[in-house]
Amino acid sequence: MPAAPISVATLAAMKTRGERITCLTCYDASFARLLDAAGLDVLLVGDSLGMVLQGHSTTVPVTVDQMVYHTACVARGRTHALLIADLPFLACATPEWALTHAARLMQEGGAQVVKLEGGASVVETVRRLTEQGVPVCAHLGLLPQSVNRIGGYRFQGRDPDSAQRIRQDALALQEAGASLLVLECVPAALAEAISRALTIPVIGIGAGAGCDGQVLVLHDMLGLNSRPPRFSRDFLKGQGAVSEALAAYVAAVRAGSFPGTEETPY
Ligand code: KIV
Repeated sequence: MPAAPISVATLAAMKTRGERITCLTCYDASFARLLDAAGLDVLLVGDSLGMVLQGHSTTVPVTVDQMVYHTACVARGRTHALLIADLPFLACATPEWALTHAARLMQEGGAQVVKLEGGASVVETVRRLTEQGVPVCAHLGLLPQSVNRIGGYRFQGRDPDSAQRIRQDALALQEAGASLLVLECVPAALAEAISRALTIPVIGIGAGAGCDGQVLVLHDMLGLNSRPPRFSRDFLKGQGAVSEALAAYVAAVRAGSFPGTEETPY
């Protein structure tokens, strides 16, 4: 009998059982089929598509229309993995905008969960979305949509004050109803402590092996980025096919061998 499609409840149960969650970004139907067949638990239509597909230097230019288009493409290719889609830059500047744009991602795009970046400033939005039945994935640590404010793609939470702020934000977002949390580019010890403190699954990127799951940008882990981030790994190297690279990623995350110390800068 084919395994049941993954839901947020499946991911919560995986956390309880101590099984690591596998996630990759995905932007089209062909890759969605491959990722699904490789056994990925979660496909994330990230607004990183602005950088890896569109060639922009940031995610800021990505629009809601573009996110809806790519989410619908991925939805047509997947059958099993949970489908999360990003609310892009300023799409949730007010709770009302967030509701409108989440409706588009779910009704036109087929997303099952929406992801939004931010801490205390989006807690009320997360509450409003979840009250209306929208499952939310929060995103803390490095917030790429805020690159123009922070002035670059730097690790966050490296001093006690900012680590404490991220910890408090994580608890507040969980309390507001978030079902999942992505933690990007924070020290491994902080990410592990937050993963243990929260009951919801925490998916890390550049956050060490102590999270409940891992996510990478697809093009980085397939060696298609000429300047990959140092927390990524080229899983296609030494493999004969993309499907083998995806299987190697799933196996490494499940075994806890990715990320290793060389992919954990802090
Ligand atoms: O947009 C994206 O791909 C993301 C991941 C890097 C987590 O948010």
